[in-house]
Amino acid sequence: MDLQGKVAIVTGGASGIGAATVEALCTEGAQVVITDVNDELGRALAKRLTGDGKSVRYQRLDVTNEAQWERAVADTVRELGRVDILVNNAGIGTFADVEQETREGWEKVIAVNQTSVWLGMKHVIPAMRAAGGGSIVNVSSIFGAVGGFGASVAYHAAKGAVRLITKNAAIRYAKEGIRINSMHPGFVDTPLIAVIKGTPTEQLILQNTPLGRLARPEEIGDVIAFLCGPKASYMTGSEVYVDGGWTAA
Ligand code: NAI
Repeated sequence: MDLQGKVAIVTGGASGIGAATVEALCTEGAQVVITDVNDELGRALAKRLTGDGKSVRYQRLDVTNEAQWERAVADTVRELGRVDILVNNAGIGTFADVEQETREGWEKVIAVNQTSVWLGMKHVIPAMRAAGGGSIVNVSSIFGAVGGFGASVAYHAAKGAVRLITKNAAIRYAKEGIRINSMHPGFVDTPLIAVIKGTPTEQLILQNTPLGRLARPEEIGDVIAFLCGPKASYMTGSEVYVDGGWTAA
């Protein structure tokens, strides 16, 4: 129970990697605020975990909305007393390449996947400072480091930015006891990639993944929980790849 007494906020916590991260943090003893825009899924997860004796609650938080960030942090501090952990996980996918992408599509992906990470850190860090330190994990992707298939240009732009925002902030806040790392998953079996299941793209992915399979969400959530905890105490500004070997090639 490495995270006993700690309070965590997880964005996009209702589904996939976020939900697996919520479970992993709870298992280590943290109190977790599940945030998402999918209220139905978020409430159902909170109900199931509460039934299992875990300390969780659900709060709606659209990560692109600064006022909702302010409210989520204020509510968490008022009700749970502190914030020690932030997992900036919420994200959306896209397929468009440079010429196919629209201005609207570009701005939406950048807002949800990139601007959200800055907003989250901006509003949570004062509470972490008050708690005497903390740990932040920003979920990027293998596509924050390599060009993939030449598609999803806005997604690559956003995830690449998350990688460097993380290093910049890690340097800025290290002396205040706030560690900040980025997580770079390979392909994970979640609703985000449901559209490619059973298609030739899935076959291509499996061929390019040395381990030859998709990741299970908990294989990412468990590493995020490790990064949040005391066993990762000398890690900050690190980019952690959990990708079945994809980027080794
Ligand atoms: P998912 O679709 O299962 O979960 C994403 C969650 O984010 C959903 O619950 C959704 O409602 C929420 N969300 C979407 N827009 C939001 C907003 N504006 N505000 C708050 N919540 C919002 O997807 P998955 O796969 O669990 O993705 C989680 C993160 O992992 C994303 O950042 C994604 O880019 C990243 N990732 C996923 C990979 C995969 O293969 N599944 C690979 C690499 C990175």
